[in-house]
Amino acid sequence: MKVLLLLVMLTTCAASPQDLSDKIFTFPLRTNTARVKLITSRENFSAVTVCLRSFTDNTRDHILFSLATPSNDYDFLMLRQAIENTIDLYSRNNVAVFTEPDYTLNTWHSICSTWDSESGLVQLWFDGQPSMRKFVSSGSNITGHTRIVLGQVLDAYDGGFDINQSFVGMLTDVHMWDHVLSPCEIQDYVQELNFSPGNVLNWRALEFQIVDKVLIENKKRTCY
Ligand SMILES: *[C@@H]1O[C@H](CO)[C@@H](O)[C@H](O)[C@H]1NC(C)=O
Ligand SMILES: *[C@@H]1O[C@H](CO)[C@@H](O)[C@H](O)[C@H]1NC(C)=O
Ligand SMILES: *[C@@H]1O[C@H](CO)[C@@H](O)[C@H](O)[C@H]1NC(C)=O
Repeated sequence: MKVLLLLVMLTTCAASPQDLSDKIFTFPLRTNTARVKLITSRENFSAVTVCLRSFTDNTRDHILFSLATPSNDYDFLMLRQAIENTIDLYSRNNVAVFTEPDYTLNTWHSICSTWDSESGLVQLWFDGQPSMRKFVSSGSNITGHTRIVLGQVLDAYDGGFDINQSFVGMLTDVHMWDHVLSPCEIQDYVQELNFSPGNVLNWRALEFQIVDKVLIENKKRTCY
């Protein structure tokens, strides 16, 4: 009997980083599948800052940023709640609710969220305006394999997506840092000045994987 030994070459399909300066992700459909997985090998965070810009006409709840680990589905989340007119920031599965009356539709907003495990406080920066700082969770790091998704809420670590919280609109300039940015650094981001790009997720060197209908488009410059 002949035994044929096949050497299976497992090619690792690690997406190489792409510079998305002047690009946006467009999420054109309400689905429970379309999403962008953002890839980082980093884990074990004692502090986090996430900044992004979003544009939507979506009048229902929608996710802005979703980070899960094996131990917590909502390890770092930014969620828009429409009826309550809030932006909810989660860390370590705990939530702080920020009333945000200026969530105008059909316009770009810069939204940053910071958290550190020492104080346990989260803060929302909405179009450069700081919120008060609220307590969510202190004393433990975000640890374990990091899964990050744009467009859907990672409601279960193994992925079950709720169409009613999906994102329809445009996202750009997504950065994540492993520390709390200073107010000046956040203003530099908001005003699109020079800033140190994210050392966990960097829009100018982003590793990602698109699932279903999400498009990479050029930023439209205003024509005067
Ligand atoms: C996190 O990092 C610290 C310092 O490197 C280490 O002592 C700790 O064991 C790590 N925790 C986990 C869960 O990996
Ligand atoms: C938390 O993370 C920081 C930075 O990675 C590390 O220095 C620290 O040891 C970690 N703490 C624990 C309890 O793992
Ligand atoms: C989404 O919302 C619609 C209308 O409110 C509801 O009928 C439907 O059951 C919801 N779907 C899920 C998966 O929750």
